[in-house]
Order: sequence, then C-alpha cells, then structure tokens
Amino acid sequence: MLTAEKERGNWGSKIGFIVAAAGSAIGLGNIWRFPYVAGENGGAAFVFIYIIFVILIGLPVMISELSIGRHTQKNPVGAFGKIAPKSFWKIVGGLGVLTGIGILSFYGVIAGFTVGYFIKILLGDLSHITTGDQANEVFNQFTANPYLSIGLLFIFLFFTSAIVMGGVSAGIERWSKILMPVLFVLLIVLAVRSVTLNGAMKGLEFYLKPDLSKISIPMLARALGQALFSLSLGMGTIITYGSYLSRRENLVTSAGAVVFFDTLIAILAGLVMFPALFAMGMDPAGGAGLVFVVLPSIFAKMPGGMFFGAGIFLLLSVAALTSTISLLEVPVAYFVDERKWDRKKATLLMGISAFILGIPSAISLGAVKSFSVLPFLDFGFLDFMNALFGNYSLTIGSFLIAVFAGYKWGIKNVLNEIEQDGVTFLYKNIWSFLIRYICPVAIVLILGYIIITRNYF
Ligand code: TRP
Repeated sequence: MLTAEKERGNWGSKIGFIVAAAGSAIGLGNIWRFPYVAGENGGAAFVFIYIIFVILIGLPVMISELSIGRHTQKNPVGAFGKIAPKSFWKIVGGLGVLTGIGILSFYGVIAGFTVGYFIKILLGDLSHITTGDQANEVFNQFTANPYLSIGLLFIFLFFTSAIVMGGVSAGIERWSKILMPVLFVLLIVLAVRSVTLNGAMKGLEFYLKPDLSKISIPMLARALGQALFSLSLGMGTIITYGSYLSRRENLVTSAGAVVFFDTLIAILAGLVMFPALFAMGMDPAGGAGLVFVVLPSIFAKMPGGMFFGAGIFLLLSVAALTSTISLLEVPVAYFVDERKWDRKKATLLMGISAFILGIPSAISLGAVKSFSVLPFLDFGFLDFMNALFGNYSLTIGSFLIAVFAGYKWGIKNVLNEIEQDGVTFLYKNIWSFLIRYICPVAIVLILGYIIITRNYF
C-alpha cells in the first residue's frame, strides 16, 4: 500500500493538502455565485439555511469523499469500482466526470470575465465609473462582445489545461498559499469600505437579519446546491484529492479546516457586496453580473480604488484557476487511470470539450440576448448549465455518495479508514447519523418536491 501511495505522489504535508483542497473549494463559487444566489433568494434567510446545510450535509459528505479517496487511492470511477466491483456504483463516478466538464464549461466563462476585468482596470476602462448605472453599462458592453467572451474562455481553459497537463499544480499550490491570504485581506478592506458607505445599513440588514418567512423549498434546493458547489462536493473532486492524502493525516480535521475557510470567504464576500449594493440603490436579485457591477462601484468610492480593483480581480482569477484545475483533474484522472490514455491527450481532449461546451454559455450573458436552450425556458444557457451541473448534478451525486458511505461501503469501513494511526474521530456517532439519515432524506425530500412541483429553476 505504502509504495502505491508513494508512486502516485502525495501532498507534501498536511497543510499542502488543506491548501490544495481549499484552493479547489475557494473560488468563484464564494465570491461570484454565493452573493448573487443569496441576493436572489431573500438574503439573510438564505445565508442561515446555507450555513445549516454546510454543517449538516456538506461536512459529512466531505468526510465521506475524503475517506473513499484515501482508501482507494483512485479517481471517482476507479474508487467506486474498487469498493463495489461490477455494480452500478461506477456510474456515480461517471456522473462526476461528466459534471466536471459541465461545470468547467460555464465556470471558465466567468473566470475569463475576471481576467477581462483585470485587464480592463489596467487599461483604465473602469476609472470613469462613479455610479452603479455606469458600472452596469460597462458590464453590458463587455458581455455584448461574443469574441471577447469566447476568447477569454479560451485563454482561461488554455492555462488550466497547461497546468493540469504539466502536473505543475504543486507550484500553483505554493503560490496560492501566499496569494489566498492576500485575497482574504483585500476582501476585509473592501468589506470595511462597503459597510461604511452611506446607506449600508439596509444592506447589512438584508444580509444578516433573517426573515424566516422567505424560506421556501426551491430556496432550500438552491442553498443546498450552493453549499455543495462551494465546497467542491458531489462529483468526486474531493475523492480525487483525498486519494493523494497520506494515511497519517486526520481526515476529519482537514475537512473541518477546508469547510471553515470556504465558508468564511463566502460570508465575507457577501459582506463586501450587500452593503455597497444597497448603498447604491441596486437590485440584490440582479443575477450573475452582480460582482462585476458592485465591485467597480466600490472601487470608485475608495482612495486608490483601481489599485485594489486590479488586485482583487487578479486574485479572483488565481482563486478561479485553483478551482478549474480541480475540475479538470477529475476527468483527466479518469481517462489516465481507467482508460490508460496519455495525460497530454486526456487533458487536451477534455479542455477542448469544455471549451466547445462553454461557447453557448459565453455568449448567453449579453451577446445573444436570452439565448435559451429550449423555447419554453426563457433564461440563458449559462444559467441552465449552472443549474443542471452546478446544482442538481452535485445534489444527486452527494445523495449517492452519502448512500454509498452510509450503506454500501458502510459506516464501519469508513470509520476504519478514518481512525488509523491513532486518529480518533470524536463525533463519529453524529457523522454516522447525518450521513445515513439526514443527508439522504433531506436531499430526497427537497428534490422530490422540486420534481413534483416542476420548480426546477
Ligand atoms: N468550489 C469551487 C468554487 O467555489 C468550484 C469547484 C471546483 C467545484 N471543483 C468543484 C464545484 C467540484 C463543484 C464540484 O468556486
């Protein structure tokens, strides 16, 4: 076992793993997606439910994914196949491979936007902004150009593929160990500016004072999807990363650390966004363009705002890159391990697939107005991909992972994997209860309601 572990490579240290997994988790999900989804779903009530789901569903599923990954030392398809040979469980891994490409395709579009905005700031294109309307205008013009959006998507996926192909992600981890704390500090500075703006109070109230009457089942579905998305759960990313984790490490505290930092950054991002948004009289339910409109409006109200702006969009691109690497790594690990493809070929083909699949998303935020998948769905293609792969596929995947850990592979085996080398899992009874009863039942109830009422989006 140990030699196999050595051959596959390992994280240099415990902190190396936490940095990589946190790098996967922390990304656009926290800073782009969390605020706009919270804004569309009632603010504080959503945040409240989100945190409950992170603790009751996200954390137990993450512990399960990590132990499956470390035990099998494989990609998701191989991992399920190893524990449950000749069964349908392999399909769960297959769903993860597909979902990786699906998420990468639209995630790459938004990541491309962050690069675009970084360049725009350097060119001085945002320096004339003083109002929310102007920021909106800039964003609309930016997204109206299909070649630009597609070009930026290409550039982003090119870098992601180059890194995954070269296996140089260790270098990226070294960098993100330095850069992510910088991102954190910049967000704190922006949050301070945001909450001290005139009229920020209303935003704080919207964000932090829950109105529980706003809770609805579709909102629960979105909060759950957002929690899973933000933590990179439900498609085997964490299985894959766990497969590089050494047996000496404590899975539970590692999972706890990743969940804690990821949630902290998301909450902080909301603290940047909502006070400013309300101070400037914008609509919290403004949708996927939210960060690109709100952030430049804050920079306009800060001394040296463009300097902060450049920093934030650059770091956001880096945060997105450590996430896209983890998304691409899942299908690549599958084709390399299971299909014996060459790593170069696998990366190239998967990168190109994500690019082609991403083109309709890239043009759906402006270039082609309300470019929709099906005639009866009057919203954009990116929104559709985001809901399909970024919410439902992860929710179904997490359900299956919970059932797998709780019933198929079984509590005893998971706990054996966790409690090695003198590690004790203090809360194992709570974890067992959550993974066997709470996770699957909550997901079935929520998805069942969504299907019966056809309230998919
Ligand atoms: N969690 C990342 C973010 O918040 C995105 C991401 C990376 C992801 N890998 C994933 C989401 C796997 C779901 C599954 O930006």
